[in-house]
Amino acid sequence: MSTLAPRPRAASVTDMVEYVLPQHANIGSTVFGGQIMAWVDLCAAICAQRHAGRPCVTAFVDDLLFKRPVRVGQVVRLRAHILATFRTSMEIEVDVHGEDTITGEVWPTVECRIVFVAMDDERRPTAVPPLLLESDADRAAQAAAEERRRLRLAKR
Ligand SMILES: CC(C)(COP(=O)(O)OP(=O)(O)OC[C@H]1O[C@@H](n2cnc3c(N)ncnc32)[C@H](O)[C@@H]1OP(=O)(O)O)[C@@H](O)C(=O)NCCC(=O)NCCS
Repeated sequence: MSTLAPRPRAASVTDMVEYVLPQHANIGSTVFGGQIMAWVDLCAAICAQRHAGRPCVTAFVDDLLFKRPVRVGQVVRLRAHILATFRTSMEIEVDVHGEDTITGEVWPTVECRIVFVAMDDERRPTAVPPLLLESDADRAAQAAAEERRRLRLAKR
């Protein structure tokens, strides 16, 4: 049982906005999947570190489905929030949307969950504050994450 004080989800929600430039794109002028993955990892890492108050490393990335492309001149919007905490690890969800600033259209492009592990000063896994579970939806999200965790750890 953690002795750290629980922290609310809202305290670590992280937003990022990226303008898609030619260096982010393939020859079809749509953003590279790997570039989106890098932004997803960054956004989630900031969220994890805000929650943990420690440096965090990426331990596991769930499947990524690229639903619709984002083109040069459009915008990628990312929002990360914590779904669940375990002992030293946390599951973070990142929602990614494309945005056309000229037309105002916004569309979902990727949704992903990533596990981060908090590190102590000797770079060993260290306990994270529990997530404050404030509603039935929060408790259901934690329970669903526990099941995904069981499946991930079974793959090790
Ligand atoms: C992630 C890492 C710290 C886990 O180290 P480890 O020696 O397996 O340590 P432990 O067994 O004590 O596990 C630490 C935590 O990682 C979690 N973990 C380890 N492997 C995992 C996996 N495949 N999926 C999900 N969580 C995992 C464990 O469940 C544990 O969390 P918990 O305390 O909440 O239960 C280690 O594998 C590592 O450093 N990996 C490289 C990380 C990295 O370089 N990332 C990319 C750059 S940031």
